Amino acid sequence: MAIKILGIETSCDETAAGVVLDGRTLLSNVISSQADLHSPHGGVVPEVASRQHVRDMVPVLEQAAADSGLGLEDMDAIAVTYGPGLAGSLITGVNAAKAIAYSLGIPLIGVNHLEGHIYASWLAKADLENDPGFPLACLVASGGHTDLLLMEGHGRYKLVGHTRDDAAGEAFDKAARILGLGFPGGPEIQRVSEGATGDETLPRAWIRDSHDFSFSGLKTALLHMAQDRGIYPTLEDGVDQTKLVRELAAAFQESVVDVVSAKMVEMAAKYRVKGLVLGGGVTANARLREEIVKRSPLPVIIPPPVLCTDNGAMIAACGYFMYQRGEETAMDIDVEPGLPLG
Ligand code: KG4
Ligand code: ZN
Repeated sequence: MAIKILGIETSCDETAAGVVLDGRTLLSNVISSQADLHSPHGGVVPEVASRQHVRDMVPVLEQAAADSGLGLEDMDAIAVTYGPGLAGSLITGVNAAKAIAYSLGIPLIGVNHLEGHIYASWLAKADLENDPGFPLACLVASGGHTDLLLMEGHGRYKLVGHTRDDAAGEAFDKAARILGLGFPGGPEIQRVSEGATGDETLPRAWIRDSHDFSFSGLKTALLHMAQDRGIYPTLEDGVDQTKLVRELAAAFQESVVDVVSAKMVEMAAKYRVKGLVLGGGVTANARLREEIVKRSPLPVIIPPPVLCTDNGAMIAACGYFMYQRGEETAMDIDVEPGLPLG
């Protein structure tokens, strides 16, 4: 009998739930984004996020169950993100998961959000004819993390590189703010970059002999360039804002893409892995996906963009493999806003 897991994700500003069969087959994936709510503030406001999760949780759960063609009572376990993330946001999802697991008498499985991003690839692997097997090189690039991990087996990770300052997604969001674009910044930067001629360039922070990243210098370089060219903080007379924003956004995107793809491919070779796995909101970026595939001699597993950004299905997929290992979580589990991986 196939194992059915409901995954719940509320670590930031998406209220999300999904149902997955045997860790690989997606039955439903419902995501209620709060982007419009936070957009006027240029970033996520934690208390606003928690309270919106409280409103959206039950409708999202009902929709996830309805879309899957199953009832909550058909689930074998409930998986939920318990960290890392915003404490108030995490609490809403964890409490909902506890209530369902308790009332149905089924296991609760606390999932690390970063590990969930990696397991989005198991949903994508259904399309892959030849599963490369372990070890894998994993990139988790999101609003709060830019981690390179060696995955030696299910649930076994070594952190081999991370950002020393801003996360890649955070850098995209800050760059978008400098350029007067909307929130979240990543999709906006990607959108306006299309059609750029590439006649502007920004520096790359290589941090030689290390798998670590740094993005804050790039953000400062962009800020200085925007000031010098007369588009920040106010637009100077006679400046073609549309063209400059397009070129600077593209220059920023190329700088991030170049460093991240080079470091990931380098790390994969050093650790003699069998394949590469991408996860996290930034890996929805079309240029980053294209560049890693182009540079890697090994198979690259990339979930569709909707499974790269936060979702409940990835939590269910990860929860399945924990369930198989008997990793049930105690009912008195607390949230862990700073939970590490590896
Ligand atoms: O994984 P995620 O949905 O939430 C966190 O766990 O943080 O990642 C959100 C981040 C945001 O910073 C957003 O700007 C970025 O992912 N992002 C992108 C793209 N789509 C989302 N960055 C670059 N290009 C994109 N297409
Ligand atoms: Zn995430």
